[in-house]
This record gives sequence, structure tokens and C-alpha cells, in this order.
Amino acid sequence: MRKLIDELIVDIPKDVYDPAEDSFLLAENVEIINHNKVLEVGSGSGYVSLYLAKKYPKADYFCLDINFAAAKATKENSKENNLHLEVVNCDLMSSFVEKKIFEAYFDIILFNTPYLPLNENGKLALAWSGGKYGLETTQKFIVQLPRILKRNGRCYIVVSSKTDLAELEKLVLNINYKLTQIDEVKEGRESIKLFLIEANLS
Ligand SMILES: C[S@@+](CC[C@H](N)C(=O)[O-])C[C@H]1O[C@@H](n2cnc3c(N)ncnc32)[C@H](O)[C@@H]1O
Repeated sequence: MRKLIDELIVDIPKDVYDPAEDSFLLAENVEIINHNKVLEVGSGSGYVSLYLAKKYPKADYFCLDINFAAAKATKENSKENNLHLEVVNCDLMSSFVEKKIFEAYFDIILFNTPYLPLNENGKLALAWSGGKYGLETTQKFIVQLPRILKRNGRCYIVVSSKTDLAELEKLVLNINYKLTQIDEVKEGRESIKLFLIEANLS
């Protein structure tokens, strides 16, 4: 399916997440400064990074997705819109944490996570199926974060009121970072929440 979103041409193949309220909440709230190095985990169609690359053209963008169809869609959509994104097909930040050059490399890391407390199988379900507490993937992501995020860097994550938010806070405190909610959008009875994760510099 081909869509025009915010004047971006976005092809969304079968098995790739169709940008929705959670994607828009993330895209609209991320703030980037000049030559920041930005990594989007789970880029799906690539819409969020394309939106940011258009709005903040001086930054460098890296995207990754575990779903090959999504990584391919991100790359192809970047070419279609003449915006440059480096794209990797990998599980969370595994391709980066293993390389010394990416140690404390990124200024901004963003992830619209699989946040629903569900156990569903299939490539598309990877987009929302977060296991018992909605944090199965996010938990592993948080452990990897301090390796590649700059000490004064910022991480934006999207979760839901259905995610176990007390457990999320514990995971963040365990790496000695702090968690702050910066925005939310109502979706019926559910609320989609955007959080900032930053190191405790004090
Ligand atoms: C909610 S979708 C968000 C897609 C896109 N960022 C957006 O906002 O429209 C979550 C994405 O994370 C990807 N994902 C899930 N688990 C992952 C993992 N372990 N490593 C990398 N990507 C993953 C999914 O394939 C999916 O594309």
C-alpha cells in the first residue's frame, strides 16, 4: 500500500507496520540539533526517520529493524524521498553494541516499541507483541542502551497505558537512568505514551 503522509511517499508492504498515532506522537516530539547522530530502532516503513530527516536535514540517521521486509521498506522509502538513511536488518542494537566505534556514539535513540501485553506470532505481530508485560523486547533494549548512547544523549520510547509502567521505571532505574513522560495521546480507553530516558548526570 502506498500512502502520502506529511508530504512523504511511504510504501507499506504486507507484514510492515502501517504508521499510526504512536508513530506520529514520536515523530512530532523528537528534537534534534544540527549534526546529531540519530538511531531509530524498529523503523518499520521508515516514516518516523524520514519525517525527522526532512525536518532536521543536518543530522545523520541510522535505522534498524528485525523484520527484513521492514528494513527493506525503510531503505526503499528513503530513496523514493531522496533522504539518506543508513539501514540495518538486525535484532535490536546487536550490530552496534558489538563494535567499538559505536561506543557512546548516538545523541538520540528512538523506539516505538512492541508495547502490548500480548503473545502473538508472525512478522507483523513483532510490531506490537510485547509478551506478558508488554516489555519483553524493551527490557533487552534498555540493557543495551548505555553502551551506544552518549552520556548526555536522549532516548525516546513509545509505550502504552497497557504496558507495565512500574516495571518499565524499574528497568530504567536499574541502569541508573531516569524516565520522564513527555506526551501522550488517547486511543479510546488506551493511552499511547511517549517517554524520555536520560542518564542521571547529577
Ligand atoms: C510499533 S512498530 C513501529 C514502526 C515504526 N517505527 C513506526 O513508528 O511506524 C515496531 C517495530 O519494531 C520492530 N521490532 C520488533 N522487535 C524488534 C527487535 N528485537 N529488533 C529490531 N526491531 C524490532 C518491528 O518489526 C516493527 O517494525
